[in-house]
Amino acid sequence: MDTEKARLLELRKKIDELSYQYYTLDKPTVTDYEYDMMYRELENIEKAHPDWVTPDSPTQRVGSKISGGFEKYTHDRPMLSLGDVFSDDELREFDQRVRDDLGGEDLEYVVELKIDGLAVNLIYEQGQFIRGVTRGDGVVGEDITNNVRTIRTIPLHIASDSPHIEIRGEVYMPITSFEALNQQRRDDELEPFANPRNAAAGSLRQLDPRITAQRKLAFFAYALGGNSGITIESQEELLQDLAQFHFQVNPEYRKFTNIEDVIAFIHSWDDRRDSLPYATDGMVVKVNSFAQQARLGNTVKIPRWAIAYKFPPEQARTKVLDISVSLGRTGVLTPAADLEPVHLAGTTVKRATLHNEDYIKEKDIRIGDTVVIQKAGEIIPEVVRSLPELRDGSEKVFSMPTTCPVCGSPVVRRDGEAAWRCTN
Ligand code: IVH
Repeated sequence: MDTEKARLLELRKKIDELSYQYYTLDKPTVTDYEYDMMYRELENIEKAHPDWVTPDSPTQRVGSKISGGFEKYTHDRPMLSLGDVFSDDELREFDQRVRDDLGGEDLEYVVELKIDGLAVNLIYEQGQFIRGVTRGDGVVGEDITNNVRTIRTIPLHIASDSPHIEIRGEVYMPITSFEALNQQRRDDELEPFANPRNAAAGSLRQLDPRITAQRKLAFFAYALGGNSGITIESQEELLQDLAQFHFQVNPEYRKFTNIEDVIAFIHSWDDRRDSLPYATDGMVVKVNSFAQQARLGNTVKIPRWAIAYKFPPEQARTKVLDISVSLGRTGVLTPAADLEPVHLAGTTVKRATLHNEDYIKEKDIRIGDTVVIQKAGEIIPEVVRSLPELRDGSEKVFSMPTTCPVCGSPVVRRDGEAAWRCTN
C-alpha cells in the first residue's frame, strides 16, 4: 500500500483511540496540541485525496451539509417504551408478577438509571456505523444519521463483524452543556430550553448537522435491537460488551436477586441524583437473563420483563421577589414568579410559572412569600404552594395588570376562562 494511505489509516486509528480516551473515558493521554497536530495531518491527506474520505473518518464528525428534512425509517424490531411505577409497593407487585410468570424460578435484576434524553437506534453493518434513527412512535422513526455522527461518544465503527447489529440507548445533554447553551441563548435573545431533554431533542432534530455538532450531546448505550450472529445472554453481559465496543455505558448499574435490595438501591439515589452531571427521571429495573426476558415477552407497547420507577418531582424552597406577566403567542397573559435563584433538579431556577390568576388567588401566593417550587419531568418549574407561616407582614397581594405589558391595549377575561388575553 501507498505510504500516504498507510499513514492515513494509522492516523485515523490513533485519533479514534485518543478521542475514545478523551470523550468516553474522560482520561486524555496526550495534550490537545498533539491531538490537533494529528488531526490536521489527517485533514491534509484527505484534502489531497478526496476519494479516500470515508463516512467513518474522524474528520466527518464536524457535520456535513444541511438536509431538506428527515426520512422515515421503520425499525427492525419496535422500540418499546416502559411501564411506569411510582411506589415501592408497585415494584413489589411487578416482582411478584414476574416470579409467578416464571413459575417461581430464581432470577436476577439489573437496575439502571433512567436517563432523561431521547432514545435512538444505531445501526452497524460489518462494524461500520451506517444509520442513526430516532425512536419516533416506536415503530417508525426519523433517519438522523448525519446528526448522530457528530456525537463524539458514538463510535463510527465497532469491533464486530456482524452483518447487522442495532445498538439502542439515550442521547442526552450533560447539565453543564445545557446551562452553557441556555446562557448563550439568553445572550442571543433566544428562548432558552426548558430542560436538558428538550435541548437534546432540539439539537438532534437540527436540519444543519453543524449546529448539532456544536451542541455537546452524549450517548449512553443500554439495549440491543435487531441483530444477527450475536450471542449475548444477559443485560449484564450486554452492558459489558457495549463498553468493549467503546460505547459509554452508565457505570451506576447494579445487579440484585431480590426486590427489597432493588428498592433500597433505588432510594439510595433520593438525595444524590441531584449531583449527577446529567438529568435522570427514574430507575429502570430489568430481568437480567435474556432467556427469561423472552419467556416473559412483551405487550404491544411495553416489555413485561422491565419497569420504570419514576422519581417524585424534586422540590425546593425559595422567595418570590416579584410576579411578572408575559404575553404568549396566542395573546394569553401568563403570570410567573421571579424567584431568589435556587438549585433544583440540577439547574438554577430563577422563575416559575403561576399558571393564571385563579391559581395565584386559590393558593394565596403573594410577592415576598416563601414558596415551594417543583420540577416534574419536562415541565418548567411551578410554584406549588406558599408558606404563610413565614410571612412578616411585608408581603404584597398581586393583581393582574389591566393593560397588556407589551402593547398597552386593554386586557379581557372571557366568561368561563381562567386566562386574561390582550385585545390587540
Ligand atoms: S430500556 C425495552 N433503559 O425510557 C426496553 N430505557 O420510558 C426499553 N430510558 O424509551 C428501554 N434510560 O428512552 C431503558 N437505562 C434505560 C433507560 C431507558 C432511559 C428511556 C428510553 C425509553 C424510555 C421508556
